[in-house]
Amino acid sequence: MMIKAKNIQKSYKSKQTKVDVLRDISFSINKGEVVGLLGSNGAGKTTLIKILCNLIEADEGEIFIHDTPLIHSDKRAIKYVSSVLEGNRNLYWRLTVKENVEYFLGIRGVGKKKIENKLLPLLRRFNLYEKKDELVKNLSRGMQQKVAIIVALMLDTEVLILDEPTLGLDVQSNIEIIDFLLEIAKSESKTILISSHDMKLIEKLCSRVLIINDGEIVTDESVNVLLRLFDVKSYIFRFNEPLSEQQRFNLANLFDNSSLVETAEGEVFKITLTRNEDFYEVMEIFKKFHILVDSIERDQIDFEKVFLDIIRRTKDHGVI
Ligand SMILES: Nc1ncnc2c1ncn2[C@@H]1O[C@H](COP(=O)(O)OP(=O)(O)OP(=O)(O)O)[C@@H](O)[C@H]1O
Ligand SMILES: [Mg+2]
Repeated sequence: MMIKAKNIQKSYKSKQTKVDVLRDISFSINKGEVVGLLGSNGAGKTTLIKILCNLIEADEGEIFIHDTPLIHSDKRAIKYVSSVLEGNRNLYWRLTVKENVEYFLGIRGVGKKKIENKLLPLLRRFNLYEKKDELVKNLSRGMQQKVAIIVALMLDTEVLILDEPTLGLDVQSNIEIIDFLLEIAKSESKTILISSHDMKLIEKLCSRVLIINDGEIVTDESVNVLLRLFDVKSYIFRFNEPLSEQQRFNLANLFDNSSLVETAEGEVFKITLTRNEDFYEVMEIFKKFHILVDSIERDQIDFEKVFLDIIRRTKDHGVI
């Protein structure tokens, strides 16, 4: 077990109020797993990540990293962890890109020569080579985010924790970061926990997701299982000739979860089926009304919709 969290609780107290942000969080992550942390704004993801990175202390509960207890005043467990936190707060703005890398790796005992050999190819890869001697405060937000990720990756720890790593990145940088993380995850058996609202990233990188809602983990499930659970099949039918009024009327009235949609190639019939057998019933009806099908296309499952659905359902009912 690489990360183990048991009954984590955290509240924020001010004079008048007390907000229970994390009520009772328990989970484990095995070595080499890439796990997504999902939940709506304010669900408690960043708070949990800050606790796991030893930046704030939980009120209750225990955390073990690499079987070492994470204790606020003790550096042993945190040595296994590197992180990229929200909002570019990971870097010194008055130092250059290279100086930042040298500083953060230096305090973990990595020598300058070794840093240079690793850093330059990485900077080239992320189109940051020209910026290596630029002050971080003069970089764009996306560039700063990329530098923060480079620093975390170069620390080369067993555990990598990322809080919304692609937030604010352009399309190209977004793809670069995801592909790079994918490579790391595959080749280096790193244990990665990643919070994101970017479902493409979650879909590409994670094998399992934890979903937080209202300070509790409401779902801890493999991505495959979640997708199977929501695997409703959508089909698009195209026809040989325009439908008659009668045929259109019949189709519109006979099926739920269906629609006739006007497209550039003429009218198509879209239907979502929850059981495979229903497909034959649709074909029967077409036959009965002499509707000639030209082509059938399977609509893609929309991953974003699946995860949004899960979050919405757990919010409404507490379970999927
Ligand atoms: N330092 C703080 N003092 C008081 N309340 C806080 C503090 N930090 C966070 N909170 C509250 O804790 C709750 C959870 O915040 P958190 O940042 O962990 O959410 P999140 O899941 O990361 O959301 P997002 O998706 O928007 O990043 C929010 O209600 C927030 O207002
Ligand atoms: Mg957050």
